[in-house]
Amino acid sequence: MVDRLRPRRSCLAVPGSNPRFLEKAKTQPVDQVFLDLEDACAPLAKPGARKNIVAALNEGDWGDRIRAVRVNDWTTEWTYRDVIEVVEGAGANLDCIMLPKVQTPEQVHALDLLLTQIEKTMGYEVGRIGIEAQIENAIGLINVDAIAKASPRIETIIFGPADFMASINMRSLVVGEQPPGYDVGDAYHYILMRILMAARAYDKQAIDGPYLQIRDVEGFRRVAGRAAALGFDGKWVLNPGQVEACNEMFSPRQEDYDHAENILDAYAYFTSEAGGKKGSAMLGDEMIDEASRKMALVVAGKGRAAAMSRADRWTAPEE
Ligand code: GLV
Ligand code: MG
Repeated sequence: MVDRLRPRRSCLAVPGSNPRFLEKAKTQPVDQVFLDLEDACAPLAKPGARKNIVAALNEGDWGDRIRAVRVNDWTTEWTYRDVIEVVEGAGANLDCIMLPKVQTPEQVHALDLLLTQIEKTMGYEVGRIGIEAQIENAIGLINVDAIAKASPRIETIIFGPADFMASINMRSLVVGEQPPGYDVGDAYHYILMRILMAARAYDKQAIDGPYLQIRDVEGFRRVAGRAAALGFDGKWVLNPGQVEACNEMFSPRQEDYDHAENILDAYAYFTSEAGGKKGSAMLGDEMIDEASRKMALVVAGKGRAAAMSRADRWTAPEE
């Protein structure tokens, strides 16, 4: 069984037209790479980029990074060739196809069917290659629930802020930042929450898209921190300078990780025979119960996935 919920705190965008960047991506400390055939590749560079990507996937060591390829969207003339060339050429060394500008569940079905035929032809395991769906326009957002459940291959729902801002005529050119003149809240809140609800309802991951001011690491942290606080699983990085901040923002803080593990230990103890079979109990000044355990599991799960270790450990009272 494929683990479709592997950690994806940082997802590095790599233009398929640049062999040097493809090589460099193999050493970046990111959870995922995606090799791009879409907007980072000029139309005339796309055929060459397909070949570069196949070669890069088949050569060298990607470690345990998730390897995805972003193909062009179904409204172009490139999608089928992107998928056939890349999956036939390197399907065994590829985890996911990322489909941009998804508008309807049928577009996911089309990719699913094409992948199944290629897997059968090539003798690959049918259904192993996942799909990542980018939501980048209004129609995609209003169909996001159906898109999230369109195929068991779907692993992530990704917000594409640049295309989305263009598609809804948002009055800003700075991706991820608030549009000037809107000073009463977060202009992205509804979109992020809509995507997050669809992802959580169908057990998918929710990923935030790029922050284009690549030298402004503080700005990156601010925008990444918002998505992480809501519950998003990760974000794109466009440059090595964003990676450390990204991994940090999408891992729990040490004190929250310790607190979560302590809640789990304390709750296990207090609900046990030795701890008095209690449904709720006090951990310091805080009352904990079954709902606290569920919240703690989320934070502890993210910390364990990020290989964090405990700096503070609760111990059960002496008998
Ligand atoms: C990413 O594809 C975006 O449009 O922001
Ligand atoms: Mg886009």
